[in-house]
Amino acid sequence: MSHSLSNEQLIAAANSFGTPLYVYDAANIEAQYSALTTAFTGQPVKFFYASKALTNINILKLMLHMGCAVDCSSINEAHLAIKAGHAPKNILYTSNGIHFSEIETAVSLSIHVNIDSLSNLEKFGKKYGSSYPVGIRLRPNIMAGGNLKISTGHDKSKFGVPLEQLEALLAIIDTYQINIAGLHIHTGSEIKDVSVFMKVTDVFFDLVPKFPQLQFLDLGGGFKVPYKAGDPSTNINELATEIQKFQEKLQSTYARSFELWFEPGKYMVSKAGYFITEVNVIKQTPTITFAGVNSGFNHLIRPMLYEAYHEIKNLSNPNGPLATYDVVGNICETDTFASDRQIATIAEGDLLVFENAGAYGFEMASNFNSRYKPAEVMILKGEAKLIRQRDTFEDLTRNQVEVL
Ligand code: LLP
Repeated sequence: MSHSLSNEQLIAAANSFGTPLYVYDAANIEAQYSALTTAFTGQPVKFFYASKALTNINILKLMLHMGCAVDCSSINEAHLAIKAGHAPKNILYTSNGIHFSEIETAVSLSIHVNIDSLSNLEKFGKKYGSSYPVGIRLRPNIMAGGNLKISTGHDKSKFGVPLEQLEALLAIIDTYQINIAGLHIHTGSEIKDVSVFMKVTDVFFDLVPKFPQLQFLDLGGGFKVPYKAGDPSTNINELATEIQKFQEKLQSTYARSFELWFEPGKYMVSKAGYFITEVNVIKQTPTITFAGVNSGFNHLIRPMLYEAYHEIKNLSNPNGPLATYDVVGNICETDTFASDRQIATIAEGDLLVFENAGAYGFEMASNFNSRYKPAEVMILKGEAKLIRQRDTFEDLTRNQVEVL
């Protein structure tokens, strides 16, 4: 059962910790993970939470307590996962475009690595030969995902080794006797159709005979979550059924089966997150009523960057008559969270909450306009705990070096 926070809990958190404020519902994250593991009961699967979605150490520790492994997109995320207590075997570094030295660090940490270029694979082969099992990220030339900016598997994408270069890939593996333990394909974020994942399994199916040492097949993340009522989402139960059939096909064709890996980010933390702001100004113009909040794309960039839709509710007047607003921020450039949006009548001082703000919300926040990053709170067993302090003025100048 999905879990959500009540208006009263959100208002209480805003009153205790101030706004703008990110609030995460631990119970919702637990429910999401449990839905995943239940759907795949009995299957050899492993879930690595894509920590780029939200790296607060308490979120990483919650994953640890739930038994969920961690996927990283930088070596620092790997260090954070270790700091949170994750064992190296439960940390995966799916790299792209990185300097080889980060792969060396990953090896020294004994974590899993997916390499995404022939160049780094060659360096890896030269240095480690067959001594360290490694995964290889492939580009299947499949267009998928909510929009082009979050699509990663298409034929113009920078990610992975293009399938057209399979011969060159195999030659490098052969030269250095590299132990390819896994194949990885992540085609994008917000993939609603199970058929996309099954296209990837078709690619894997054809490749399996070429990789005798394979132990895992990694389908990446990208499960779609609904951002508004009526939005589609990935049918996890259907996916589990199809993956089971895929395993049976592998078994009957090759007499081999593999651990199937997934790297869900949004699915794990999106819905658990609420971003609470306060309305500074109501500006009535001849055509538009603006509700100006004490935040901006410096705190939640998804609407401006991806035209993403986030449900916005007026916590202070939830049952008021609906009126139409543009909800905007206080950044010194166009900074629109929502246009032409029906929201319960807003007055200055009201608290507005943006839903589905857990994934890529705080994580993509910045100090643009020299504003503070928000505080973060986790609701744990019904109790609101501060898990990151709001920035202070010192945070803005901390790393600056005065030379004048
Ligand atoms: N694995 C890999 C290799 C990835 O590149 C990503 C996301 C994931 C897993 C997790 O995908 P998810 O389950 O969260 O969809 N900032 C954008 C999303 C960028 C996703 C980048 N890679 C947004 O806010 O929509």
